[in-house]
Amino acid sequence: MKTDWYKNAVVYQVYPFSFMDSDNDGWGDIEGIISKLDYIRDLGATAIWFSPLYQSPDYDYGYDISDYRAIDEKFGTMADFERLLEECHRRDLKVIMDMVINHTSTEHPWFRDAVSSEDSPYRDWYIIRKGKREGDRLLPPSNWESTFTGSAWERIGSSDEFYLHLFCREQADLNWDNPAVRDEIVDILNFWLAKGVDGFRFDVFNMFSKVYPIRDDDQKDTFQTGAQYYVDGPHMHEYLRELNDRALSLYDSYTVGESFHPSEEDAHAYVKKENRELDTIFNFAHLDADNIAGKKFFRKPFDLRQFKKGLLDPQVSYYRDGWNTLVLENHDNPRSVSRFGIDDRKYRYEAATMLATITYMGFGTPFIYMGQEAGLTNTDFRSMDELKDPVSHFVYDLMKGYGLPAKLAFSFIKYGARDHARVPMQWDDSVNGGFNKGHAPWQCVNPLYREINVRKDLESDHSVYRYYQKLLQIKKNNETAVYGETHEYDHENRRIICYSRTWKRKKLFVIGNFSSRRTKYRLPELMDIPELLISNYDDVKVSGLDIELEPYQAAVFEKK
Ligand code: GLC
Repeated sequence: MKTDWYKNAVVYQVYPFSFMDSDNDGWGDIEGIISKLDYIRDLGATAIWFSPLYQSPDYDYGYDISDYRAIDEKFGTMADFERLLEECHRRDLKVIMDMVINHTSTEHPWFRDAVSSEDSPYRDWYIIRKGKREGDRLLPPSNWESTFTGSAWERIGSSDEFYLHLFCREQADLNWDNPAVRDEIVDILNFWLAKGVDGFRFDVFNMFSKVYPIRDDDQKDTFQTGAQYYVDGPHMHEYLRELNDRALSLYDSYTVGESFHPSEEDAHAYVKKENRELDTIFNFAHLDADNIAGKKFFRKPFDLRQFKKGLLDPQVSYYRDGWNTLVLENHDNPRSVSRFGIDDRKYRYEAATMLATITYMGFGTPFIYMGQEAGLTNTDFRSMDELKDPVSHFVYDLMKGYGLPAKLAFSFIKYGARDHARVPMQWDDSVNGGFNKGHAPWQCVNPLYREINVRKDLESDHSVYRYYQKLLQIKKNNETAVYGETHEYDHENRRIICYSRTWKRKKLFVIGNFSSRRTKYRLPELMDIPELLISNYDDVKVSGLDIELEPYQAAVFEKK
């Protein structure tokens, strides 16, 4: 039944709020997405992952779902969605739905019922515990922290009970140990699979299983207090297999899991083919190469060796018995050309194309976040009011609480904010960047849209989009680029990334200058007389094994 279609797929991520607003109400919508499907297909994508389209009160912009079987009104109707599915399939684009099932919205009828009375049949669908009395004070049941700052527990009204939320307080964690919850989730997956969707992206999946009884984290897990009790929990592998047996394996479906700092051992087990859990997970370790300890608001000088390790290690460890994914951006990260020490005014084209080359020629399925293919940059937000993501505000308030001056706190937030990825798409230089016809969008537009937009990119001699087209053609059609084994060279080098891919008797060499300085490099032996497949500069200066790379130049060679 399984055809493993994901192995030479290219996935394009659409964040529906900000892609295209067809009815000029300030929100992106399904009709808008349909109008841009040719653009996505022509890029070379073969699948689209839609960030949540379901009914949601939007405390976390769609990641707090209040009905898993309904499309949110602002995006359209179920009939619109069905048309979208059909239009995608007509263009040979597979459809991957986001599944946010670690938690539901607190406005979901299950949760409302659960907290309405202690006898509610839904009470045990969530994680509800009595607080701890200390004198007159009522403390939360444990010291666990939410990923979005503060306690992970919220008191239920004036009762002495609390519910667990590992994200916003409007996102209540489900109790996966309750078989009724799993039955319902299986049913939801089958509902969408029966409609014809081709796969799922599971949101923060490795938090589904928690360690009971609930207890304090005395060691204070270094990443987040409590994490050792709710990351890679005791039943994770069993629950994923159950979803597979009862839903995923009944269709030719694909899954990608978004994991939260998994252990190496668990990460491997999630994607190991014979385990029948997930097809792939995301690896984000390389995206932490310019922040401190994975905390994205805390900037540090870019460390290329850390980037290389994060990008290439999973390619080696999952190669034998699993599959990998390749990511540069998503709706939770700033734009890639505006970080990693890159000057996005001076080297936007060079860096965007270099990043794509060194990332997507690796082992794994490419994921491209909308706008990345046109080299869109971060936004120069002027004040906190322009930021819509609640996380930006939580962290800002926390920093100010610690006594950080407002200006400094704002500069940290601006560095790591998810809002950068969530401003409306910049299609052209018309009002609101062509996102709509002039109604104020839900999130401010990047004022640079007049200068940096899709139309301008397509008209330019240095088009990031057209480079992506060429690169993705190679990625999909060259067997070595799909199946080759990755081997890194010269890990210690602080400017150059260089690796090979080997498949049968063929080899690809991928090289990138991750710096703004012209750099000489001696290519690995065995590369005698290689054929150049692609470079982001017209001229590639090689003589014998010596190559001289321009700022952010990248090249791929093939040796047959
Ligand atoms: C994932 C999503 C993120 C969301 C969080 C909680 O990390 O990518 O956008 O806020 O889960 O659902």
